[in-house]
Amino acid sequence: MNKPLSNRTALITGGGQGLGFAVAAKLAELGAKIAINDIAPERATKAADRIAYASDVRTHAILADITKKDDVDDMVNDAVSTLGGLHILINNAGILYPTSVADTPEEEWDRVIEVNLKGTFLCAQAALAPMNAARWGRIVNFSSTAGKTVSTLGGAHYTASKAGVLGFTRHLAKEVAGDGITVNAVCPGLIDTEMSRTIIDDAQAQAYADSFPISRLGQPTEVADLVAFLASDQAAYITGAALDINGGDLMV
Ligand SMILES: NC(=O)c1ccc[n+]([C@@H]2O[C@H](COP(=O)([O-])OP(=O)(O)OC[C@H]3O[C@@H](n4cnc5c(N)ncnc54)[C@H](O)[C@@H]3O)[C@@H](O)[C@H]2O)c1
Repeated sequence: MNKPLSNRTALITGGGQGLGFAVAAKLAELGAKIAINDIAPERATKAADRIAYASDVRTHAILADITKKDDVDDMVNDAVSTLGGLHILINNAGILYPTSVADTPEEEWDRVIEVNLKGTFLCAQAALAPMNAARWGRIVNFSSTAGKTVSTLGGAHYTASKAGVLGFTRHLAKEVAGDGITVNAVCPGLIDTEMSRTIIDDAQAQAYADSFPISRLGQPTEVADLVAFLASDQAAYITGAALDINGGDLMV
């Protein structure tokens, strides 16, 4: 059966676990060939193997630190030459520390901005050439409710980086709109992943859940469904948008 993304190749940064893994699995289910990047080699390889096993698409693990331009350029070239083109980029890799401004070391500030914001820029920049060659592209950047208001779990560096992602998304969307490439951001609320569970325990998770209009944490598969829509042909008229998925925690 012909699946909707069977003629597409997708690269997911930080796809070794959590939201990135869920997005990669969803895009594979829809037929896309999948390049999974992570900075943790065993995560990337295991994730690529699991998705190849569960679907009939080709997968490829790529070890890279998205803050390093040489790594990123090699990663995109590798994805293009191994899987044939690059049509969908999911800028998912991100880090979070719950540090207050008063206690944030300069190196921690720099690292959060580098991974969450500069990494998003470097990967998008490298992906433009293959997307232009195809005259079709979808870039989905991971922001957060933090990008629109204040982070629930992270520090000011996290909030600032995710607000930066929204500005970058709008600007790039305008630059490449004429090339068949859309650029959007998703703004998840509190989602049940390794990242959130390293910061909060079960009791805290329940307290947050009770405070949301939809009284639970979000599931990675729910975010993956939204990202998959933005990566589809049907989303061709959506660009420069920042889509909320937060159980009603933030309504703007
Ligand atoms: N979980 C949430 O509640 C939540 C809410 C809003 C937004 N987000 C955003 O969603 C994205 C994914 O979050 P998650 O909860 O799945 O996180 P996670 O920590 O579970 O997974 C992130 C992955 O990114 C990888 N990574 C980190 N730095 C990297 C680098 N420099 N290069 C390549 N890979 C790197 C990690 O190894 C890890 O596998 C992040 O951008 C995060 O800020 C998460």
